[in-house]
Amino acid sequence: MQIFSQTGELRRYVAEQRKQGQRIAFVPTMGNLHQGHYSLIEIARQHAEVVIATVFVNPTQFGPNEDFNRYPRTLEQDQAGLEQHSCDVLFVPAVDEIYPYGAEHGVRIEVPQLGDILEGACRPGHFVGVATVVTKLFNLVTPDVAVFGQKDYQQLLVIRRLTRDLGLPIEIIAGPTLRESNGLARSSRNQYLIDGQREIAAVIHQSLLSMAENVRSGITDFEKIEAEARRLLENAGLQPDYVVLRASGDLAKPALGQNTDLVGLIAAKLGSTRLIDNILI
Ligand code: PAJ
Repeated sequence: MQIFSQTGELRRYVAEQRKQGQRIAFVPTMGNLHQGHYSLIEIARQHAEVVIATVFVNPTQFGPNEDFNRYPRTLEQDQAGLEQHSCDVLFVPAVDEIYPYGAEHGVRIEVPQLGDILEGACRPGHFVGVATVVTKLFNLVTPDVAVFGQKDYQQLLVIRRLTRDLGLPIEIIAGPTLRESNGLARSSRNQYLIDGQREIAAVIHQSLLSMAENVRSGITDFEKIEAEARRLLENAGLQPDYVVLRASGDLAKPALGQNTDLVGLIAAKLGSTRLIDNILI
């Protein structure tokens, strides 16, 4: 695996691959890689001859009181894992390589509405940071396909929207959510949980399953379904930010009587750790 930290090296590599007619697949990450990330590398491999991953903890998608400074950075371990999963290139830029005018002063990409609700409402500016860094990385890597996890469902939709709206010739592929054996979605933030908390955190997935079951059983009062799931979370000791059923295409409130093409979405805090998960219905 080749490792680049300068955009110039990356561009020269990509140009060389293009000359040889190779297709390029891209997996952006913030590192502290786990099986969920590696599953995206494997999906990427099925779509292209060359797989490029980035590890970049992007400062602009963290709020002022969020965990940017304590976000786990485990580059050596990530590097070994990526090599094992036969990733071809790891790009690990410094912050000023991605934000040459400073993280505060660069050009921004905004995805209105879709980027302002749910996660965007709880974490103002979050999706501007995500959309901006992903657009920049897309321009540097110029992939044919890019793979994103369904785990961050709203992020996936935001990326799909910006790709389409900016006319980027990149196919966006979704990878299924990998879970612990108790159902807890794998996440770098699970590192913050102490042992007993992992079982409590698994109630997020259980609540999503019960929402899906209630919809499938024909219950049409979605507010009631949401309230019941919220109660499950609170009784387990979680503090939900949102518990909602939405249209899976654009996260709009479902039409009356709609019981397919839905997604259940939960964000909840356990102590100081904030976790998100979702389920397609
Ligand atoms: P990060 O949280 O590191 O996630 C990188 C990719 O891995 C995302 O597409 C995410 O959805 C996916 N992922 C995380 N957990 C997963 C799981 N359990 N199963 C499957 N896929 C999973 O998401 C980001 O980084 C950043 O916002 C980024 C897109 C890199 C922009 O900075």
